[in-house]
Amino acid sequence: MGTIQPHGGTLINRVASGPRREELLRLAAHGKKLYVNARTISDIECIGIGAFSPLTGFLGQDDYDSVLHRMKLADGTVWTLPVTLAVPEADAAWLADGERVALIGEQDGIVYAVLTVASIYTANLLEEARCVYKTGDPAHPGVRQLLSGPAVYIGGPIEMVNRPASRYPDCCYTPAETRKWFAVQGWSTVVGFQTRNPVHRAHEYIQKCAMETVDGLFLNPLVGETKPDDIPADVRMRSYRALLKNYYPGGRVMLGVFPAAMRYAGPREAVFHALVRKNFGCTHFIVGRDHAGVGDYYGTYEAQHIFRNFTREELGIVPLFFEHSFFCTRCGNMATSKTCPHDPAFHLHLSGTKVRAMLKDGICPPAEFSRPEVAKILIEGMST
Ligand code: ADX
Repeated sequence: MGTIQPHGGTLINRVASGPRREELLRLAAHGKKLYVNARTISDIECIGIGAFSPLTGFLGQDDYDSVLHRMKLADGTVWTLPVTLAVPEADAAWLADGERVALIGEQDGIVYAVLTVASIYTANLLEEARCVYKTGDPAHPGVRQLLSGPAVYIGGPIEMVNRPASRYPDCCYTPAETRKWFAVQGWSTVVGFQTRNPVHRAHEYIQKCAMETVDGLFLNPLVGETKPDDIPADVRMRSYRALLKNYYPGGRVMLGVFPAAMRYAGPREAVFHALVRKNFGCTHFIVGRDHAGVGDYYGTYEAQHIFRNFTREELGIVPLFFEHSFFCTRCGNMATSKTCPHDPAFHLHLSGTKVRAMLKDGICPPAEFSRPEVAKILIEGMST
């Protein structure tokens, strides 16, 4: 079996190098400039390295409208989240179709990419929120972020001239690199795992259930922007390394970071996460309870049900669905309602809020909830 096809059939590479890069940098120095935030920089990186294949840039109006209302790009390729570049109206006023504009980090002044303007349009942000997040409630972190930004969008292909420096250079791969690595390992089936949290026993359980049937696990934590009360990526990365060292067979797992920002779009983000992992070369993708959810905006299994809207061929990657998992004190092991007959009173349940409070107070959650090596790192991380 060969490696899985990237989404849309071609692995995109928008990284400019050599004389082309020099030319673009010269152009950027003298041409029009837009200053972009960390979230946009992470989108630039994901587009540049092909993680967002088939996107070659930020969505133009046709694709945007189609993604919002059909969960597909204008050409019919499944795509569930709008990847857009919002710019202040005053900036959009001096741009025209066909023009090139440098995208520069607002914090560091680094030129990350050059975009060729193909579409300038005004979005209805509340409508976008309702389509993507299924709510217009500004208390939702994704909606809040969306509504606080400008409504003018610029679409067009980009060429990345500087890849953002990674805080985890030893775990930072392009999809071309992970695909090659999987092939070298001889893995013909690879399950991708998205996470924005430490890997607790429930996560470990569903990963290992999947590992029983596939050749390898690609542990692909999201390390872009998350909401302030999520555990910082640096701490999580330390905890993943400790967990893998102590509890996973080295030859069957690869740890690599996913530089994107978290949207908290629940169902739509689950499909997006799956497609991105397909680009990294995964054949399977885990979707558990309330994937990419926040608060109670989405039903527990809504992020699984959304996959029914697409055919196997359209997706190209196989979603692996898992029920809410927990430690059952009667079974003496991890289980779900599919495998455990006991009363919920025997099930160990700890909310994220409760666990964070315990860690902050220096209290280790029970070993049935979190491996002690992981808990130790989280306690250290939360106290600094
Ligand atoms: S997410 O926002 O990245 O989805 P998290 O890191 O907590 O959050 O989840 C990673 C994956 O594990 C998701 O597929 C999620 O549905 C799944 N998951 C998390 N906790 C459980 C659980 N107790 N039982 C089953 N699946 C879970």
